[in-house]
Amino acid sequence: MKAWVVRELGGPEVLRFEDVEPGQPADGMVRIAVRAAAINFPDALMVAGTYQSKPALPFVPGVEVSGEVIAAPASSGFKAGDRVMALLDSGGLTRGGYSQIADAVPSAVSLMPAGMSFEEAAGFTLTYQTGWFGLHRRANLKPNETLLIHAGAGGVGTAAIQLGKAAGATVIATAGSDEKLEVCRRMGADHVINYKTQDFAEEVKKLTGGRGADVVFDPVGGDVYDRSTKCIAFEGRIVIVGFTSGRIAQAATNHVLVKNYSVVGLHWGLYKSRAPELIAPAARALVDLYESGKIKPHVSVRLPLAEAPAALASVAGGKSTGKVVLTT
Ligand SMILES: NC(=O)c1ccc[n+]([C@@H]2O[C@H](COP(=O)([O-])OP(=O)(O)OC[C@H]3O[C@@H](n4cnc5c(N)ncnc54)[C@H](OP(=O)(O)O)[C@@H]3O)[C@@H](O)[C@H]2O)c1
Repeated sequence: MKAWVVRELGGPEVLRFEDVEPGQPADGMVRIAVRAAAINFPDALMVAGTYQSKPALPFVPGVEVSGEVIAAPASSGFKAGDRVMALLDSGGLTRGGYSQIADAVPSAVSLMPAGMSFEEAAGFTLTYQTGWFGLHRRANLKPNETLLIHAGAGGVGTAAIQLGKAAGATVIATAGSDEKLEVCRRMGADHVINYKTQDFAEEVKKLTGGRGADVVFDPVGGDVYDRSTKCIAFEGRIVIVGFTSGRIAQAATNHVLVKNYSVVGLHWGLYKSRAPELIAPAARALVDLYESGKIKPHVSVRLPLAEAPAALASVAGGKSTGKVVLTT
């Protein structure tokens, strides 16, 4: 089978397209013929060796796929031919999703909802679970609250906009270009702000009559976090989701006290080991929302597996919108 292999750390150019012997799946694993693999921002960090989890070299990147089951143990509940979506990072990533075949632990595999395409399914789990846990579990978002989502046109941003609207919030989304603002509008944002050309904190205050946003969903960090503290409402919650800006902001705890707001962290992957019982109900809620038409992954680019380095570069460079997927 063909797979992209990382033998040295670096930018997307270090990926090598190789013939890899798939061997037999390890005991208990579900073997999947990959139809689509999502590119996620952390993939680039993993390839560069700057992500919190550091797979041993060599490894195949990609933590999220959809496809058809080739073989599965009877105890897994899956059978050959099932259309599934799966996360691949359990137990350390050695052979990820930028590949024609992937193996996953049964608990990280689920049947695709009826009517969902392989491309949509590849990017469904991580981004929507992140949005769900960030908004509901960590921020306790309530209907009619104002939700400010940064990098709203990105993978987790587009999911968070849809989830915020589904929860009954008023959604303000920021993004770095007019094209991206248009994507945010199409995802359902009530208001959009170009944070490269406008002071989003002032705009949010204008839109909320000076009150500020009840919840800020922040995958960007750095200056974006700093300015968010200027437009967070009384008893508001800032959810720290990521640091795409490249700078990890420092929270001023005196300011947190004086303005009565909370800064809460989200590391979705940790729920898999610390509170796995919370993941399945979230997955069911997300499938219900998909089937009722309230959420739909925004797949903006589909590229053949052979073009993985270019696809990864576009996501790492902040150029993509929604999800970029590789197809086999
Ligand atoms: N906490 C968790 O459990 C969890 C789970 C999944 C993902 N994440 C994190 O969430 C973040 C977003 O992931 P994603 O998959 O949505 O990424 P994405 O689709 O690539 O979107 C990221 C966006 O960040 C913005 N950005 C600002 N400064 C940037 C820079 N210097 N370089 C690149 N992008 C920049 C860009 O939007 P603009 O042009 O609009 O600024 C870009 O579109 C990542 O940090 C990822 O690690 C966290």
